[in-house]
Amino acid sequence: MYLGLDLGTSGLRGLLVSEDGTVVGDATKSYDVQSPKSGWAEQDPAVWVGACLGVLSKLATGFPAEYRALKGIGVAGHMHGATMLDHSGKVIRPCILWNDTRAAKEAAELDETPGFRELSGNIVFPGFTAPKLLWMARNEPENYALVSKVLLPKDYLVFWLTGEMSSEMSDASGTSWLNVEERAWSEILINGSGMRRDQLPDVVEGSDVVGQLSVERAQQIGLSTDVSVVAGAADNAAAACGVGAFEEGQGFVSLGTSGVILAAKDRYAPDPSTAVHTFCHAMPMKWYQMGVILSATDSLNWLADNLGHSPEELADLLPDKPFGPGAVRFLPYLSGERTPHNDANTGGAFLGLSRGSDQAALVQAVMEGVSFALRDCLEALHSTGTSLGSALVIGGGSKSAFWVQTLANTLGITLHLPAKGDFGASMGAARLAMIGAGGLSPQEVMVPAAIEVEIKPDRVLTDAYDVSYRAYKQTYEAIKDLP
Ligand code: XUL
Repeated sequence: MYLGLDLGTSGLRGLLVSEDGTVVGDATKSYDVQSPKSGWAEQDPAVWVGACLGVLSKLATGFPAEYRALKGIGVAGHMHGATMLDHSGKVIRPCILWNDTRAAKEAAELDETPGFRELSGNIVFPGFTAPKLLWMARNEPENYALVSKVLLPKDYLVFWLTGEMSSEMSDASGTSWLNVEERAWSEILINGSGMRRDQLPDVVEGSDVVGQLSVERAQQIGLSTDVSVVAGAADNAAAACGVGAFEEGQGFVSLGTSGVILAAKDRYAPDPSTAVHTFCHAMPMKWYQMGVILSATDSLNWLADNLGHSPEELADLLPDKPFGPGAVRFLPYLSGERTPHNDANTGGAFLGLSRGSDQAALVQAVMEGVSFALRDCLEALHSTGTSLGSALVIGGGSKSAFWVQTLANTLGITLHLPAKGDFGASMGAARLAMIGAGGLSPQEVMVPAAIEVEIKPDRVLTDAYDVSYRAYKQTYEAIKDLP
């Protein structure tokens, strides 16, 4: 029996998976993102630990025999977060998250420093880890002086479970400190952002065993120290493992808090000028490319918060099938944007409102705006020579039939919904544990997800969505420099 943990932005999920890949138990605990200042996004790692204990206790109570039979644990998590520890392993300050834009100035500085794009293969985006440390050095020098190690969020959970500090390729790719082609830390990049190599743990592959459960942890969570913990993967790489996307041409669209279009690559082929991300996959000698938008379901969540409804209630205002693009336009840049604009300062917008614009019109505009932003990502991938003939759709937003059909009409490609539910990154994490702790082969474990529903673009409507998409692009250009 294996456990996949997914440390998400809004909650932690645990999935118990048997040797043959069947899901036998599922539990989640949610938590919030703190935003003490505009543009800031933080989480206290103690909250992750609390959620993890909650999830483990739910699993232990709900599935006692399966829980006790655990052999291995894999952990996935949101990327880029800076979790800073002092020399005793104590957390110094709340983790600064992937969608935090406070380090935009530092990111631009590093991005212009020779070597950063060449060695890391990526733009230094404001949400990446290196600029956050530079920001700390300048703005919180007392905290900065205490930093003995920087861990990515899911690596902190691995440390909590095992007492061992590690970093892992797919997650380390989003720090701007990794030579993504060589799959090794770059001292040039680490020193170039003012850090020292000893402040980072050694970097390993996703299925490598980091250690066994520590004695203290095993006692606390009612397991034995025979349980191995593997290094795991960044959320998007883990989700790709979960749906079996690791060969060239396989990929997915994720409608999660952030939105992603990901394509697996057999080789390293970066193109930072496009704002496409090129990262190591969680499998040795595999890479992937992706376009990332910062507010996908987060845009709907934001609207829901403000209208006093749940996102599900808002989604229910729309029919299953879209009838063509609406008159209201929405730019989903609530936390700035990565692909294709790399613009931390741009903001969201509603345009084309009229007296008749009701809640349903706003919801439709949000779903269309996010779909258009993902079309921008697909175009950016195309411009690097990467193409996707079809793609799986995963993430919370894929529960809305209207949204998924809008996405198909906008992207112009066939989309697939996985059959047995969306287990996402937690399934990928469990699969990495099966390989590392269970000795199963990647071919046995990383099987493609079975497809339940195929959604083809509605060819009667795709022209209308193309026209609307072009207008959407013009809107960003027209308003981006407004004071
Ligand atoms: C990827 C990214 C997000 C986060 C949160 O670069 O920033 O997808 O990992 O999900």
